[in-house]
This record gives sequence, C-alpha cells and structure tokens, in this order.
Amino acid sequence: MIIKYLGHAAFYIESGDFKALIDPFLRGNPQTKSRPGDFKELSHIFVTHGHSDHLGDTLEIAKRTQAKVVSNYEIVNYLMSKGLINVHPMHIGGRVKLGFGTVKMTSAVHGSSINEDGQIIYAGNPGGFVIETDGKKIYHAGDTGLMMDMKLLEDEMIDLAILPIGGNFTMDIEDAAKAVAMIKPKKVVPIHYDTFDIIKASPEAFEKLVKDAQVIIMKPDEEYRL
Ligand code: NI
Ligand code: MN
Repeated sequence: MIIKYLGHAAFYIESGDFKALIDPFLRGNPQTKSRPGDFKELSHIFVTHGHSDHLGDTLEIAKRTQAKVVSNYEIVNYLMSKGLINVHPMHIGGRVKLGFGTVKMTSAVHGSSINEDGQIIYAGNPGGFVIETDGKKIYHAGDTGLMMDMKLLEDEMIDLAILPIGGNFTMDIEDAAKAVAMIKPKKVVPIHYDTFDIIKASPEAFEKLVKDAQVIIMKPDEEYRL
C-alpha cells in the first residue's frame, strides 16, 4: 500500500484498485505541488468535515473522476445538490463494507460547516475514518481536539494513525501524544501543522513525546509504503 501525504490533512492512498483521496485540499494548499488534475483515476474520496481545508477540491475531482465520495449525510447531500451521484453517506459510529474493505466513521471534537457566497451551510458533525484495506487499518482523525473516545480506538488495532498536531484548531503535540497513548497505533503520522502561521508545530518534538509507536514524519508530497 502506498500512502502519499499531500500536505495539511490531505492523503492519497493506493492499494490495487483502491485509489483514494482523503480531505483533498489541493488548490490553496501551500504545502503541496499536487493539483486536482493530477488524479486521473480514483475510486474513492473521503471527506472528514465541511471546512474548506478538508472538503477542498472534492467536488471538482469527483465530477471528473467519478470517484465515490464517502462522508457524513449532510456533506453528501450538499455534494448531491451540486450534481454528484456516486456518493456514500454514513455517520459517526457507523461502519460499512465497500469494495475495498471497510470504513468506519469516528467522532471528532470540532466544527463542520461549508462557507458559500458568504452563507454558512450546516455540514453535520465532523468526523474521522478508520479505513481497512489490504489487511491494514488506517485511522485519519480529521480535525479534532483530544477526546476520551480515542480510547475506543485501541480495540481497532490501528496500524497507522494520522493525527493533527498543529494546535489552535486541533490537538497540539502534547495532546496528540496523549491520543497516541490511548489509540496505541503501531505507527503515527503527524499532520495539520505549519500550513499556516497559527498552526506551527514541531513534529520532532512530537516524536520525542510519543512512546510505544513509531512516528513517521512525512514531508508534503512524500510517499510511504505501509
Ligand atoms: Ni476544520
Ligand atoms: Mn482543518
């Protein structure tokens, strides 16, 4: 399985026919050289919540590639109102079998709304995803503060946890290290930092705080084989 970090909270994951984006914020993302048009063939797009740095270029990429968009009910309805047909609505706590394996939507302590023409559109509760495919389990936390619900993820036996560390809008490095202690993943990738001045953080300092998990510090546009 190839995991490519596209900066901020965006990832591309490929394993056989499973070619997926998570939170594809590409245009306006100062950390990545990837552009929406780079993704010619995609099977799925996962969207954790409605904020523009996560919903990103979902609509454009999904329209072009016909990738199935997996998100909460409200965001899926919003995207359907914009013409998307290949969608899968789900919600917090729900798990579903799709062609590639399973996906569970997890809770996140955060906000979720879509700003459009000065209007705020309700986008349901924010979430994260536990994606199981190719015998591996990946947890993308989305944007979240530290929460006791992370303790529930210990039973999932997560191979790779993708956690925000930038502070201000999400966990900082101290809280993210506490999250790792609760989730007990084998490996962890810190994200959602240094994109903007207000979320500056040191992934090396985070690594020093983490016990019992391998910290993988990924540079934007870098690939990792899981
Ligand atoms: Ni957010
Ligand atoms: Mn965010």
